[in-house]
Amino acid sequence: MNFNLSGNRVNPLFSNNLPPAPHVMSSKPVNNCAMNASFFDKHRIRLIQAPMAGSQNHRLAAAVFFAGGMGSIPAAMLTAEQLQSELSAFEDAIASEKENVKATQWDEFLPVNVNFFCHTPPPVQNEREAAWRQKLAPLYLAHGIDPKSVGSGPGRAPFSEESLKLVGQFKPAVVSFHFGLPKAQWVQQIKDWGVQIWSSATTVQEAQWLEQQGVDAIIAQGLEAGGHRGMFLTEDLSTQLGSLSLLPQLVKAVSLPIIAAGGISSPAAVSAAKALGASAVQVGTAFLTSHEATTSALHRQALMSSSAQHTALTNLFSGRPARGIVNKFMRDFGPLNAQAPSFPLATAAVAPLRVAAEAKGLSDFSPLWSGQNASDCEALPAADIAHKLLQGWA
Ligand SMILES: Cc1cc2nc3c(=O)[nH]c(=O)nc-3n(C[C@H](O)[C@H](O)[C@H](O)COP(=O)(O)O)c2cc1C
Repeated sequence: MNFNLSGNRVNPLFSNNLPPAPHVMSSKPVNNCAMNASFFDKHRIRLIQAPMAGSQNHRLAAAVFFAGGMGSIPAAMLTAEQLQSELSAFEDAIASEKENVKATQWDEFLPVNVNFFCHTPPPVQNEREAAWRQKLAPLYLAHGIDPKSVGSGPGRAPFSEESLKLVGQFKPAVVSFHFGLPKAQWVQQIKDWGVQIWSSATTVQEAQWLEQQGVDAIIAQGLEAGGHRGMFLTEDLSTQLGSLSLLPQLVKAVSLPIIAAGGISSPAAVSAAKALGASAVQVGTAFLTSHEATTSALHRQALMSSSAQHTALTNLFSGRPARGIVNKFMRDFGPLNAQAPSFPLATAAVAPLRVAAEAKGLSDFSPLWSGQNASDCEALPAADIAHKLLQGWA
């Protein structure tokens, strides 16, 4: 896919007095001072489009990059072959701008954040899975699903040797992790390649742990955030903090750049994060209704309706707490249920119910991931959303 940069130059980024991001400018030499500045200062990256597995691909990442932010490609629900083709497609998307990209110090790095989960897969739990299916049996019956046809399997895969090979091959500028970090040897290899490593923290302890492991930046994921909680040192949900409390505490507790995430969907919220010491913001929910996201029609509808005012953390769709709009499944069985199989094994049991309900136009069994503030969601090109958010940093 070719992106026409001269087309981009007439967009609001270049007509509202915002400093244009250097990676979409033509050949400006980078001075020594900038070379020594942090990644965020050097590349003037202030907006990161949050990786959102299942809801986006390279198209959204490229659109946000061209709009002056950094895009992300989520790998958690992709096979190695699928990730390879996503990375190739992103590479193609920026190919027409390669000279400019190089001239602004991306060097050999692909200007994108590739995101991985790094959970430890749980041991086989046939009995627990069977008991959960038994509990869901009346639902299968009601939707004409043969319980014997319900599959099993993880649905989401952690970072692996194959992932590492792809990182070495494509050299993304950033690799980010959710649920801690993979083994130290792999972290070291990624660092040796000069790739930035970021990971999510939901508490001061997690941020300090990540700093000790040598990450380059920490994503402060506030309780408001949509999707899975990145928590990894505890399963106690009472430890989780809202963005306004978490961000300043992390800024104080560690000496790394902090990326604020969770509930940020307007220029004012971006300004607040900046004022509280963030080096950049990471925004998910506000991009879910962008033209380039792969969000389903039912999910988009829910995000732009009053039902998005009520979200909750639920483990019903994957086995791990994640924030989504409350629907029938969450109301009837949760939102948190101790009997649900461990992450990511809960995914398979609900999958056929989701398919059956969606075929009837119902989102009763769909994971409607959303942060607590979907009120700024608009059906717009991602570039428009990015430009608006970036006004908050100016
Ligand atoms: C639909 C959706 C999917 C997500 N998937 C991922 C993911 O694959 N990896 C990840 O690190 N974070 C994921 N997140 C969490 C985001 O990285 C980020 O923490 C969150 O979107 C920020 O809060 P906000 O949604 O209020 O903007 C997801 C969030 C959403 C809404």
